[in-house]
Amino acid sequence: MYCTRKILDDLFWVGADDRRLACFEGVYGVPDGVSYNSYLLLDEKTVLFDTVDKAVYSVFLENVAHTLNGRPLDYLVIHHMEPDHAATLELLVARYPEAKIVCNAKIKTMIAQFFPMDLSERIVLVKEGDTLTTGRHSFSFIMAPMVHWPEVMMSYDSTDKVLFTADAFGTFGALNGRLFADETDFFGEHLDEARRYYTNIVGKYGMQVTAVLKKAAALDIAYVCPLHGFVWREGFGAFLEKYRLWASYAPEERSVLLAYASVYGHTENAANILAVRLAERGVKVRMYDTSVTPASYILSDAFRCSFLVFAATTYNNGVFVTMENLLHDIAAHNLQNRKVAIIENGSWAPTSGKGMREILGGLKNVEILDSQITLKSALTEGQLEQIDALADTIAAAL
Ligand code: FEO
Repeated sequence: MYCTRKILDDLFWVGADDRRLACFEGVYGVPDGVSYNSYLLLDEKTVLFDTVDKAVYSVFLENVAHTLNGRPLDYLVIHHMEPDHAATLELLVARYPEAKIVCNAKIKTMIAQFFPMDLSERIVLVKEGDTLTTGRHSFSFIMAPMVHWPEVMMSYDSTDKVLFTADAFGTFGALNGRLFADETDFFGEHLDEARRYYTNIVGKYGMQVTAVLKKAAALDIAYVCPLHGFVWREGFGAFLEKYRLWASYAPEERSVLLAYASVYGHTENAANILAVRLAERGVKVRMYDTSVTPASYILSDAFRCSFLVFAATTYNNGVFVTMENLLHDIAAHNLQNRKVAIIENGSWAPTSGKGMREILGGLKNVEILDSQITLKSALTEGQLEQIDALADTIAAAL
């Protein structure tokens, strides 16, 4: 049975939630599910904006058919070719053979790469600034390369001031019946998952996101329709401000991310004592065991916090694997503008500090404190002074 929602009199959400997916993109746990958004406009011409993941193709096709109510589909606009949105393109175009596919040249190339059929006769190529009039509505196209794939573009409906943003402004989490962000306590309940979505999926490409935000700043926007998560019709400015921070690699808050990797608890003990000392100095600490919390959550808070502390034991003459994985992830996502402190442990030849420095050393404007705490198996009474000194340094830096 179809399951749709009205956005405007002639614009409908025809996507679907997936709550069975264990790992989005095979990497990111999504305990609250995920939504795949698709939008259908009923103007003089009918226009579908993107398709959905194959996991939800059945209800999606029902949604489209129900909303069209017997009308033909005239246009399918493709903003992004990643299969969580484009996997059902082949099914869709087979079902609606009259539909023209509106896309840019890079999308056309990817369509041919993903699907063996020849759709070239049905493709209407657009580029930056081109427009498409569908009756009452007029759309312009905004290229958004590397947000977060090279072919990505956005569409802007100047009639009702709707911006279709592809993955930008998406969130992890199923919609659960709500569609509009203002139907939720977004900043109380969903911002963490929006941050985790942005930082992990798009975070590497802050410069490109900033470029698109500048283009969007020239538009009068009443509705924002992303490919995941909630539609915005009010209060968008506060979310946009978060995007500006994330894209510029500026921390959201003066706080400490304290992540540790500990095999037998001694490194954890040092981290716990540091956390206590920081709390005593009024410093907010967000603390994680890298062997327990998946990297995507810790990376998200690395974008959030201004000061990062990494404590890890030495393993196989290097950095313990869960910390090594986290740090490589942070480096791959291009995090910048942070201060970092390091605590290493090793019972005979501690090398994890050196290894952690090497992974993070190339990041832009990331200052790693020279003073490093080295544990030989366990923190000693005499080293409590070092912990206090580090807490003082961090508190002063904040
Ligand atoms: Fe939601 Fe880049 O796909």
